Amino acid sequence: MKILVLGSGGREHALAWNMQQRGHHELFIAPGNPGTAGLGTNVPIGVNDFEAIGGFCREKQIEMVVVGPEEPLVKGIWDFFQAEPALKEILFIGPSRFGAQLEGSKAFAKAFMERQSIPTAGYREFTEANFTEGIRYLESHPLPVVLKADGLAAGKGVVICQTNEQAVAEFEAMIQEAKFGEASRKVVVEEFLSGIEMSVFLVTDGKEYVVLPQAKDYKRIGEKDSGLNTGGMGAVSPVPFADAAFMQKVTDRIIRPTVDGFYKEKIHYTGFVFIGLIKVDDDPYVIEYNCRMGDPETEVVMPRLKNDIAAICRAAAEHRLSEIRVEEDPRTAVTVMAVSGGYPGDYEKGFKIMGLDQPLDDAILFQAGTKVSDGHIVTSGGRVLCATAYGNTVSEAVSRSKAILEQVHFDDMYYRRDIGYEFS
Ligand code: AMP
Ligand code: GLY
Repeated sequence: MKILVLGSGGREHALAWNMQQRGHHELFIAPGNPGTAGLGTNVPIGVNDFEAIGGFCREKQIEMVVVGPEEPLVKGIWDFFQAEPALKEILFIGPSRFGAQLEGSKAFAKAFMERQSIPTAGYREFTEANFTEGIRYLESHPLPVVLKADGLAAGKGVVICQTNEQAVAEFEAMIQEAKFGEASRKVVVEEFLSGIEMSVFLVTDGKEYVVLPQAKDYKRIGEKDSGLNTGGMGAVSPVPFADAAFMQKVTDRIIRPTVDGFYKEKIHYTGFVFIGLIKVDDDPYVIEYNCRMGDPETEVVMPRLKNDIAAICRAAAEHRLSEIRVEEDPRTAVTVMAVSGGYPGDYEKGFKIMGLDQPLDDAILFQAGTKVSDGHIVTSGGRVLCATAYGNTVSEAVSRSKAILEQVHFDDMYYRRDIGYEFS
C-alpha cells in the first residue's frame, strides 16, 4: 500500500519499521527523522499543516494515513479529511476530533468512563465558575490528591500533591495563573490510586477491536523511578504481572466497555486507543486514555507484533477487524532510551552521534530526536534514540539493549541502567 505516516519520533520509526518488516509498502513519513528515511521517503511537512498533508495525499494518491501523535487528532485532522470528497476516500487511522477528546480533555474522558461504568479514580472538575468550591474541596481532600490540567499539556499537566496547602496553591496556579495555559483553565481533581501501572493498546473501528502486545513504560528520569517525569525512558513488553486472569478483568471491565461506549455514544473512532492502567490490589483502574500509541511503548510493541500493523490498520478502516488474529513474539522486548544531558529540563542539541552503524543482531536502534547536519546524524531533541532488544527474560533483553547503547556515543548522553528493575 501507499501509506503516509505522520510524526517524527521513535514511535513513528517503530511503526514504519514494522510495516516494512512485515509487509511491503510504499511508505512516506511526514516529517520523519533520519531513522525513517531508511524505510521510506521523508516528506518535509509538519503534522499540523492539514492543507499541505491533504495536498500531498492527493498528489501521491496515498491510500492510507496513519497518525502518530495526538496533536493533529485533537485539532481535528480526521474531520479535515472528511470535509473534502477526494480525501474522504483515503483510509484514515486516527479518531475524529470529538473522539480524540478522550486524550484532549481529562474531564471528557472521566465523564465517558462514568457513563460507561469503567473503573477509574473518583473525581470532580472545576473552573473559574466554581473556583471557591474547589478550594474548599481541596482543603479537606484526603492525601495525596491528584490535580490534572484538563487539556493537552505536553505530559506535564498532572501534579500529585502531598499536602492540602500545596493542592490549593497548585489549583490557584492552574486556574487563575493559567500555569499550563488554556489547558489548565479547567482542572480535574482525582483521588490518588496506589499500585503498579501498565498500558494496553487497541486498534478499533469503533465497534470491533484487536488488542496489541501490552507494555510498561518508565516515565521518571532517574533510576528506581526518581526525579522528574519525562516522555518515557524505556519500556518492557510483555508485563510480567499482567497474567491471563488480570487481563481478563481488563477486557471485561475496561476494553469492552470502552469500545461499546464508542458505539453506543456514536463516537467516530477508527484508530489506536492507549489505555494507561493501574493495578490496585488485583483490580485494574484507568489512569488515562490516549488516542495514539505510546512512545517508547511502540518501540517494544511493534517488534513483538508479528503481524503487519498496516494490515491491521487497513482492516480497521475497512471494518474487517474480526478477520485479524494478532500474533505476538513470545520473547520479551525491552527498549532503553538515550537522552540529551539535562532533559527533561534544558539541554543542548547538535551533538554528533557515533555508533549508529554498529552491526545489530536481532535488535533495533530507533531514532527519535535526531537530524542530519553537514552529512552527520546529530542530536535534535531530548529523547534522542532507543535500543530495542529481545530476550527470554527481562534481564536478558535489558542487558542486550544496554550493550547496544554502550557502543553509541554523543556528548552528555544519558540513559537509565535499571529499566525493568522490578522484574529482574
Ligand atoms: P497522566 O498524564 O494522566 O497519565 O498522568 C501522569 C502520571 O501521573 C500517571 O502515569 C500516574 O503515574 C500518575 N497519576 C495520574 N493519575 C493518578 C491517580 N489518580 N492516582 C495515582 N497516580 C496517578
Ligand atoms: N510513554 C507515555 C506516552 O506515550 O504517553
